[in-house]
Amino acid sequence: MNIDQGNPLVEAAPDGSKVMVLFASETGTAEEYAFDLGNSLQAENYHCEVCDLDDYEVDNLKSERLAILVSSTYGNGEAPYNGETFYEWLETQEPDLTSLSFAVCALGDTGYPSFAQAGKDFDRFLEEAGGTRILPRVELDACFDESIEPFIEQIKSWLLKYGESFRK
Ligand SMILES: Cc1cc2nc3c(=O)[nH]c(=O)nc-3n(C[C@H](O)[C@H](O)[C@H](O)COP(=O)(O)O)c2cc1C
Repeated sequence: MNIDQGNPLVEAAPDGSKVMVLFASETGTAEEYAFDLGNSLQAENYHCEVCDLDDYEVDNLKSERLAILVSSTYGNGEAPYNGETFYEWLETQEPDLTSLSFAVCALGDTGYPSFAQAGKDFDRFLEEAGGTRILPRVELDACFDESIEPFIEQIKSWLLKYGESFRK
């Protein structure tokens, strides 16, 4: 699905639905980017919540309408500590996420062979669980200070077209 395609699931979301921004981060970059996104959406009058994946009740994802995930990568292509429970849940529990639309921003360092692998895995798991991807995954080399702003702009453009039910 590209940015010019609608999404019947999101367009049919009840008024007042929220955009759930979830992050997995160890040293704070993905967290900071997630809050940049959340603040930007709130400034545009969208209902939006930003949440550390460690504080998120994973089963709630089944009833979310739109989730944006921002995750870095650690170890040898693994999820940050605070994304491990979520990673395992998606990988092993096969949740039904057919009501969910999603987008993923994957952070990493291109110096590692498994560049941004956790974000790539999350993106695949969400699709395999039946979720609808609203935008192609964005991968950022945070070591070169690649900005999340273009991703935020893409999300905002998409919401402007299709996300009226998320407005306050
Ligand atoms: C010990 C360690 C292991 C890492 N492993 C990977 C990796 O396998 N793949 C990758 O793309 N980046 C890897 N990175 C880079 C981080 O993903 C990158 O620095 C990211 O911006 C950190 O985001 P955070 O502050 O949100 O945790 C690693 C960094 C460290 C310190």
